[in-house]
Amino acid sequence: MDSPRSSSSQLIVLQTHTPTLFKAAVTQAAVLLRAGELVALPTETVYGLAANALSSEAVSKIFQAKGRPETNPIIVHVNGLDMAKACVTVWPESATLLARAFWPGPLTLVLPKANCIPNNVTAGGKTVGIRWPSHPFMHEVIGEAGFPLAAPSANRSNEISPTNAEHVRKSLGDKLLIIVDGGQSQVGIESTVVDLSGPRLRVLRPGIIHAAALQAATPGMEWEMGRGAGADSTEPLRSPGRLLRHYSPKARLVILNWKNSHELSLQLNSTGINRQKIHLIVYSHVPGGLNCGRVSVIPHDAEAFARAIYAELHQCDEEGAELIVVEALPDSDEWVAIGDRLIRASAR
Ligand code: TXA
Ligand code: MG
Repeated sequence: MDSPRSSSSQLIVLQTHTPTLFKAAVTQAAVLLRAGELVALPTETVYGLAANALSSEAVSKIFQAKGRPETNPIIVHVNGLDMAKACVTVWPESATLLARAFWPGPLTLVLPKANCIPNNVTAGGKTVGIRWPSHPFMHEVIGEAGFPLAAPSANRSNEISPTNAEHVRKSLGDKLLIIVDGGQSQVGIESTVVDLSGPRLRVLRPGIIHAAALQAATPGMEWEMGRGAGADSTEPLRSPGRLLRHYSPKARLVILNWKNSHELSLQLNSTGINRQKIHLIVYSHVPGGLNCGRVSVIPHDAEAFARAIYAELHQCDEEGAELIVVEALPDSDEWVAIGDRLIRASAR
């Protein structure tokens, strides 16, 4: 189903697959960003809805377009260590080690904010989340604009994050002038967010850079590790990405275990939902003969699964699924972030 395109006649989707197109898109995006406008941009994690991070007026447009609660802070994207350090007042040893190991890449560091960062970026808080993304378009456009970019995921609040330009168009097309198409997001889920502002290092939102990798990069440093389900958080607004209901598809989502098709069939019967309205996302126990609306088989390694999962959820919604059944995930470090997103997607 197409979303209404009433005011989206002005919308331009800029391609970037040749050097000339890429350069033209960088220029056009930077002109709009300098004029205080929003631009949807590709990053390696998910697409971002970007604005000048140094302008509270530009940033306020992000909140309006997404319908985002003002209590939810926005990540600031930079294109190097100098710009990162200019956004904060302290640069601890832990930041040096983590940046050296994982930047540019899918890691956000939360540190005490500098005065140049407006209060609406940090939702009134004293800390700011900083990320140096690895997507070449982000790198170039930040350089061309000359300032850091505040960018949450480019979807309406509480929807699943977009991993391609078409996802952005469907969710926010009527609010945007430009979407830059930088291809399919290579990581596919949002960055790992770590808080370096307290006495111990802390994962606020798990991501593809997982606990063991973070610990290995910071020898001798103390980490407060939790599997962070958010619902039991004592500080629910400290990192709203941890709120239980977040990243939701329109369809109900359940996570199930089964050994064979018969066992799954019994579980599906108990839902009372028409089989054609049930979509399955599986990676190891592929069921047959259940007459479901769709069966997607996605790869059995965490990185490939992460790259594919949001696009699968978008597709299920697109096809009108009532129930999305996802096969229960393995219980190991690499799968924690994906499990975290699916638990939130299943919350009602
Ligand atoms: O991969 C990503 O991080 C993507 C791309 C676009 O970079 N961005 C993203 O932004 O996922 P968003 O707004 O959807 O998620 C930002 C989350 C907040 O909800 C919060 O959980 C955490 O990052 N966050 C940001 N700033 C924070 C701060 N100062 N303190 C604590 N948590 C913060
Ligand atoms: Mg988001």
